[in-house]
Amino acid sequence: MNKGCFITFEGTEGCGKSTQIKLLDEHLRALGHRVRLLREPGGTLIGEEIRHTLKHSHNNAAMTAEAELLLMNASRAQLVREIIRPALAAGEIVVSDRFYDSTTAYQGFGRELDLDQVKAVIDFAVGEVRPNLTLLLHVPADVSAERLRSRQSTLPFVRDRIEEADRKFFERVAHGFGVIAANEPQRVKFINGAQSMAAVCAEIWKIIQPLLPKVGRW
Ligand code: TMP
Repeated sequence: MNKGCFITFEGTEGCGKSTQIKLLDEHLRALGHRVRLLREPGGTLIGEEIRHTLKHSHNNAAMTAEAELLLMNASRAQLVREIIRPALAAGEIVVSDRFYDSTTAYQGFGRELDLDQVKAVIDFAVGEVRPNLTLLLHVPADVSAERLRSRQSTLPFVRDRIEEADRKFFERVAHGFGVIAANEPQRVKFINGAQSMAAVCAEIWKIIQPLLPKVGRW
C-alpha cells in the first residue's frame, strides 16, 4: 500500500501552475514534509529527451497526433516506474506539474483522438498509479493568451511546437479539462486561477491540508 500522497496540477498555458507549485513546495517543506516535484512530459533523463522531441526539436514539425500521444505516455511510463512508485512507497508527497489529465485534454479533446483509445494508452502507461488529488487551475482564454505572450516577451525565444496550435485547439483543451473535472469531482478540484496569487494559494492549501494527516507525517 502507498504511504505517500500524489498531487497533480493541471490547466491550460498560463494558468499559474508553476507559481503555485513552487509556493506549495515551500509550504510543505517548511512543515517538514518530504516533497518530490516532477513535471510532465519529462521528470526523468529519458522523459526530458522525449520532452525536447515533443516541444523544441527542429525536426518535430510533422509529428502526428498519434505519435504525440504515444511519446507523452512513453515519458509517463518511465516516470511512473522510475520515480513516482518508489517515492510513494517511501511515503513522499509527489507533486507533478501535469499528469494524465493533460493527455485526455490535449490529445483527446485538443487533437480530437478517440477518447477510448487515449484512455487505453494512459491505462497502459500508468498501471495502478492514480493521483489522490488533482488541482485544475482555470483561467479564461484571453488571460491565458496574455500570460503566454508576456512570458514569451520576457524569456529568450524558444520555439514550442505545442504552443503553436491555434486558438480553437486551446478552446477544445479548456473544454476537455472542464469535462474531466465534472466527471471526477472527488479527485479533481476546479480552482479559479484568475484570482490573485495569494488567493489561489490559500484556496489550494485549504484543499490539501485535510489530506495530509491521512497520509501520515514524515
Ligand atoms: P509545460 O510544461 O510548459 O506545461 O509544457 C507541456 C506541454 O505539453 C503543454 O503544452 C501541455 C502538453 N502536454 C500534452 O499535450 N499532453 C500531455 O499528456 C502532457 C503531460 C502535456
